Amino acid sequence: MSVIPRLHFAHLPTPIEEMPRLSKELGGPRILVKRDDQTGLAFGGNKTRKLEFLVAEAQEQGAQMLISAGAIQSNHCRQTAAAAARFGFECALVLTGEMPARPSANILLDQLFGAKIVTVADRKDRDRILQETFDQATAEGKKPYLVPYGGSSLTGALGYAFAMEEFLQQNVHAEWMVFGTSSGGTHAGLVLGQRAFGYRGRVLGISIDESKQWLQEHVSALASSASEKLGKRIEFDPAEVLANDDYCRAGYGVLTGAEREAVSLFARKEGLLLDPVYTGRAAAGMIDLIRKGFFKKDETVLFWHTGGQPALFAEKYSTAIV
Ligand SMILES: Cc1ncc(COP(=O)(O)O)c(C=O)c1O
Repeated sequence: MSVIPRLHFAHLPTPIEEMPRLSKELGGPRILVKRDDQTGLAFGGNKTRKLEFLVAEAQEQGAQMLISAGAIQSNHCRQTAAAAARFGFECALVLTGEMPARPSANILLDQLFGAKIVTVADRKDRDRILQETFDQATAEGKKPYLVPYGGSSLTGALGYAFAMEEFLQQNVHAEWMVFGTSSGGTHAGLVLGQRAFGYRGRVLGISIDESKQWLQEHVSALASSASEKLGKRIEFDPAEVLANDDYCRAGYGVLTGAEREAVSLFARKEGLLLDPVYTGRAAAGMIDLIRKGFFKKDETVLFWHTGGQPALFAEKYSTAIV
């Protein structure tokens, strides 16, 4: 295997903790939580692991600017802006939505990190504006590096292949891993790591906004191409990617009673904060599956906490969550 460019700024390994009071409340299996909300870099989250590889690639290519895109309260963009500041890149973010009169949460932090923000009202125009932003930076001689949506390129996915290796080195037993999946990089990395490093449990992504079919196709393709970076192509079949899209019907970022209950249960039973958009929805799915008896009582379920808590303080969510 050739050496894969990687920076080391994540706080690793992230701890794995028991959630006995939540388990008891749900009358369910043993539940663990892997604290990737503690990865460091601007309040942490799953993007830190991806950015270790993405920023290294940007440096290798001699880039001077990081450009990315996402929703107005994107966690990925907040962490990209922080990484840009830390490693001396300029940063431009193309965000879908309206700039709030009083910026809060992630969009406030983006500004604090000095990112240039371009808003786009309609998501269908986002790719075009992103391309224009990229072309303009190129014309200005800034050598931009495009950080893909959610950091989910094959380079970014490597972060979670190695996260699986880290988990295995922690010698903790779990039959299931459950987490929120959206642009698929975390999911692809975990299934790649599962095969590459030999995890015998199951890896179940709860969809935040995509269909099961899209996730299965996209995640298997991403994992297959990312495997080449580990030295040997592994072919993944869409059918072997476990994804559940039962909990995303309300739409991206729309809070329902299920997310509210999950955020509240984690807070009141374990003193643990979830975010309203991703981990709140993923936990709501896990809770429903526990109640339906999907997991066996004697199994252990590991909830992979992917961060995102700054969004709790966005006006849109803070007024709706309690
Ligand atoms: C907090 C949080 N969890 C999970 C995800 C989903 O990860 P992925 O885009 O790798 O599917 C995101 C994506 O932005 C996120 O911000």
